[in-house]
Amino acid sequence: MENYMENVVVIDHPLVQHKLTFLRDRTTGTKDFRMLLRELATLMAYEVTRDLPLEDKQIETPVAKMTAKVLAGRKLGIVPILRAGLGMADGIMDLVPAAKVGHIGLYRDPETLEPKGYYQKLPTDTSERDMIVVDPMLATGGSAIEGIRIVKEAGCKTVRLMCLVAAPEGIKALHEAHPDVMIYTAAVDSHLNDHGYIVPGLGDAGDRIFGTK
Ligand code: PRP
Ligand code: URA
Repeated sequence: MENYMENVVVIDHPLVQHKLTFLRDRTTGTKDFRMLLRELATLMAYEVTRDLPLEDKQIETPVAKMTAKVLAGRKLGIVPILRAGLGMADGIMDLVPAAKVGHIGLYRDPETLEPKGYYQKLPTDTSERDMIVVDPMLATGGSAIEGIRIVKEAGCKTVRLMCLVAAPEGIKALHEAHPDVMIYTAAVDSHLNDHGYIVPGLGDAGDRIFGTK
């Protein structure tokens, strides 16, 4: 049997784990939730981009000529899945300010838990970019699977998923649908409850970011 965890990188950096604990806490209010989510996205982006290829560049410092390193080849794109992915996109852009940004609007049908699309706008050169799809919650996996399908349909060959909390059910489903996609997460939680929420999770990410509940 294929090991569905083989494409998962759990970012266990102490700062990430510390901030995630405060984010999960039910007493954390909207303002702090947003701040922590943005900071977590920046820290995680550091790991998600760790294997980007470099190439040589000749430069001159005030002291001497040297051969230095710059990012090689293809450029990055960020695709937050609305709404909750927006809470992480700014944190990635803090680290990669030149990245182009696409948006995919999806919501989960509360009865079927199926993703319903309501918006999409991707960079015109998506096929030439390495794309990071961003959504803090990987629950059943339906939203991430659909978001990644849309990005691939636009011609993108290299897609990564950055989430924050993943359920084993979502990881398995995503691995089956997109075995080429690496999943970067800060935590793999226990399971989904009867309403499709991650246990212990952090509740409804969109509502906690935007204060809508
Ligand atoms: C949440 C979350 C993911 C999705 C995860 O979004 O942000 O997009 O659920 O669940 P899944 O893995 O089972 O698809 P939601 O549908 O609540 O929309 P929102 O971000 O607008 O609140
Ligand atoms: N979406 C959320 O926001 N939280 C969950 O636990 C599951 C889906």
